[in-house]
Amino acid sequence: MINEKELEEIRDTLEKHILQLNFEGEPTELYEPISYLMQLGGKRIRPLLALLSYGLFKEGYQKILTPASSVEVFHNFTLMHDDIMDNAPIRRGRPTVHEKWDDNTAILSGDVMLVKAYEMLLEVEPDKLRNCLKLFSKTAAEVCEGQQLDMNFESLSLVAEQEYLNMIRLKTAVLLGFSLQLGATLAGASESDAIHLYDFGVNIGIGFQLKDDLLDVYADKEKFGKQVGGDILANKKTYLLIKAMELAKGEDKKELEHWLTAKEFDPAEKIIGVKAIYDRLEIREKTMSLMADFFEKGFNQLATIKVQRPEGLKILWSLTHKLATREN
Ligand code: IPE
Ligand code: IPE
Ligand code: MG
Ligand code: MG
Ligand code: MG
Repeated sequence: MINEKELEEIRDTLEKHILQLNFEGEPTELYEPISYLMQLGGKRIRPLLALLSYGLFKEGYQKILTPASSVEVFHNFTLMHDDIMDNAPIRRGRPTVHEKWDDNTAILSGDVMLVKAYEMLLEVEPDKLRNCLKLFSKTAAEVCEGQQLDMNFESLSLVAEQEYLNMIRLKTAVLLGFSLQLGATLAGASESDAIHLYDFGVNIGIGFQLKDDLLDVYADKEKFGKQVGGDILANKKTYLLIKAMELAKGEDKKELEHWLTAKEFDPAEKIIGVKAIYDRLEIREKTMSLMADFFEKGFNQLATIKVQRPEGLKILWSLTHKLATREN
């Protein structure tokens, strides 16, 4: 329980810090969408991971609130552009930026967010700056690589499980890894500990995206805050679809192929149709099992790190466990 309380305190402090960040400027069309998206909330997982990683080695996470939040700004930039690419109407229970304004606004506001993220990262101690910028730049390029693969895969009929795992490692997991590595590096952890934390982040990050793909099909819309079924409509090569394509036989196979190639269809019918095939093939259970494997792999790695503050470790455990059972 103590861990829970401390986690909530850190979360509150972080939320206050993020909400007081000032993104105002002229022309307002460029800056307003930034505040809009940043204030819609979200789980703030990435900066939290950075703060908790710092807390494994050192007290006083408050000192790194701004660089930790830079990862959240970067993440929100990727969401703003991702929602255009995915044609997504809703984010965090509200209209996406490109729906509320338009595509060009979302492109340009997103661009300036990336710049803001760099600016915020500049606030790390000078002797750590070069290293942090180098790691951040590498990560940011990888996220774009993952996003491009995600788009490429939409129009491919066959994607191997390993290709999918590599795609989600890039688009999602490396940023969780970077967040943890950043926190550890700023706390003066050894390079090898920082790398172990990065690897932990990548594994739980893959689990995190598997869960996101599951929620995209099975979530309660109100809790999820995003359109349910969007991945099915876009023929996203999620693990769910890849597994279903591998396992479907006979009528299921025919029906799945029909939905994947249909040019004109009723969106609600396609979602119901594909979901029914998933259910018959027990795709949900299979995805949960793979997700659990990645979380477990992460936890095993975490156990090998010699942390300076064991109490910090409990809080990180607590947060990570919540990620696997989340509903949004
Ligand atoms: C959504 O990220 C995009 C993915 C990488 C799955 P989050 O699930 O962290 O979204 P927010 O920030 O909490 O809204
Ligand atoms: C996006 O993955 C990952 C990013 C780099 C933004 P998704 O496209 O599945 O994320 P959501 O479901 O829209 O949040
Ligand atoms: Mg996407
Ligand atoms: Mg998306
Ligand atoms: Mg998704």
